Amino acid sequence: MEIINWKELLYPYAQTVDELLLKFRSLDKECRQLGIYSPIDSVTGRLKRPASILEKAGRKQISPDRIEEEIEDIAGIRILCQFVEDIPKVIEMVRKRKDMTVIEERDYITNTKPSGYRSYHMIIRYPLFTALGEKTVPAEIQIRTNAMNFWATAEHSLRYKYSGNIPQDLQDRLKNCAEAAFHLDQEMATIREEITNAQRLNEI
Ligand code: GTP
Ligand code: MG
Repeated sequence: MEIINWKELLYPYAQTVDELLLKFRSLDKECRQLGIYSPIDSVTGRLKRPASILEKAGRKQISPDRIEEEIEDIAGIRILCQFVEDIPKVIEMVRKRKDMTVIEERDYITNTKPSGYRSYHMIIRYPLFTALGEKTVPAEIQIRTNAMNFWATAEHSLRYKYSGNIPQDLQDRLKNCAEAAFHLDQEMATIREEITNAQRLNEI
């Protein structure tokens, strides 16, 4: 079997995570400095670990020499929003950018996963200028509210504890938690709208 040089393979992806973090965090910072509303609450990023890359390659029957082409989430960032209405604004921000190309969008907010998972995923291709030359790499951007993130991170760590096989009754209860988290988002949206309307009336 071919030995993978992880350092060499992961370097461009690590650089991609760094650059994407800087770019999206700067947008948020700029909004705060200008005193305009930012649809971004926070941004985190991560590089997929070699063990998870190999696990995914095995699960999806991807041969080692196809890893770079076919695993699109080696570089990943997560943009968290305060309100559900901020999500389309962030999506538009990503679509409009000229320094990255969106190649796929998956709307798990409209099409909630059977687990209860909600999030908006965008797969982009990002051009990098490395010491070895120009290279375009895929990256995954996950956009979700803090409530969706609270559920997804907790569910992920529980799934990990059960090595993926969570008993059905617990899966059902987790799904109820996802619905409760989404209810929170919807109620917040309603309250926000009422506050905004009240403010407008005061201004007249
Ligand atoms: P993998 O799930 O990583 O194999 O990717 P995929 O190609 O099947 O893409 P998919 O869009 O299904 O999931 C991509 C990512 O979304 C995952 O790596 C997780 O971060 C997240 N995700 C998807 N489904 C769930 C879920 O049920 N629970 C949690 N916590 N996260 C999920
Ligand atoms: Mg999946």
